[in-house]
Amino acid sequence: MTITVSRLAPSFAARIDGADITRPLSDAAWAEIRAAFEEHSVLLFRGQPLDDEQQIAFSRRFGNLEVTRSINPAAGTPFARQSNLDITTGEVIPPDDRRMIYQLANTFWHSDSSFKEVPSLCSLLSARIVPPEGGATEFASGRAAYPSLPEDVKRRVETAVAVHDFSWSRDQIKPGFFTEKERAEYPPVRHPLVRTNPVNGKRALFLGAHASHVVGMPVEDGRTLLKQLLDHMTQPQFCYRHEWREGDLVIWDNRCVLHRATPFDTTRYKRLMQRTTISGDPAELEHVRGSVR
Ligand code: OGA
Ligand code: MN
Repeated sequence: MTITVSRLAPSFAARIDGADITRPLSDAAWAEIRAAFEEHSVLLFRGQPLDDEQQIAFSRRFGNLEVTRSINPAAGTPFARQSNLDITTGEVIPPDDRRMIYQLANTFWHSDSSFKEVPSLCSLLSARIVPPEGGATEFASGRAAYPSLPEDVKRRVETAVAVHDFSWSRDQIKPGFFTEKERAEYPPVRHPLVRTNPVNGKRALFLGAHASHVVGMPVEDGRTLLKQLLDHMTQPQFCYRHEWREGDLVIWDNRCVLHRATPFDTTRYKRLMQRTTISGDPAELEHVRGSVR
């Protein structure tokens, strides 16, 4: 079977056909998928109903899986469960439950795990139960948005470093949302505002909800700059909105793409998405970690 790649949006995102990712892939098929990932940043596989084992097996081709921590119901496993269904009973969780409030954070533009010392390479989200309306996921490409930044802004951000702080981003849903213990688990980290893809050399903005402020700038000025960059990056021409069907698997490159959840009626419909997350390359950002200490 030959693999075909079709663009989903003008500047990034592609659908892959002709690969059965529910079974072990040949090295040739894998090489094409990996190359498409580097090129298109978001990949959609349609009609690929994965169980947890199959999702883990395919995810491992990309690298090491992160283990979920914190208050996600699947903590301690390779899955981050995005769902309004109780993990044990399968019943709908009431909207005022802490687990649902926590998931509201997904509606802010973000890059998964950017608050970690080693941020992630990519996430793979498998649609197990999809509501009949709502619940789309939106993506914005920091790579597609980069070239059209004004030259003076490019010069400002080229060597800039942002502080990513999980507690700060959670405070945006509800101040003081995290307990002291949770805060201590995720100390703030520093990452460059612009990252370069190691395969094709393309630059991309790297920010999102966890990016709290900019090193060496007054906090409010840094926040203003981050907001301006986010507004630029999330213009419609740099976005792709994915309407889910059951059996979809979408992979996104957390190094250069932000994403956000959109609402659905959580009291009427069921939604269950299983995410695996692949660790990034610790060597890629070492230079920044060293230089800002
Ligand atoms: C995620 C995420 C958005 C969604 O899985 O990391 O942000 O629409 N999901 O479920
Ligand atoms: Mn996410």
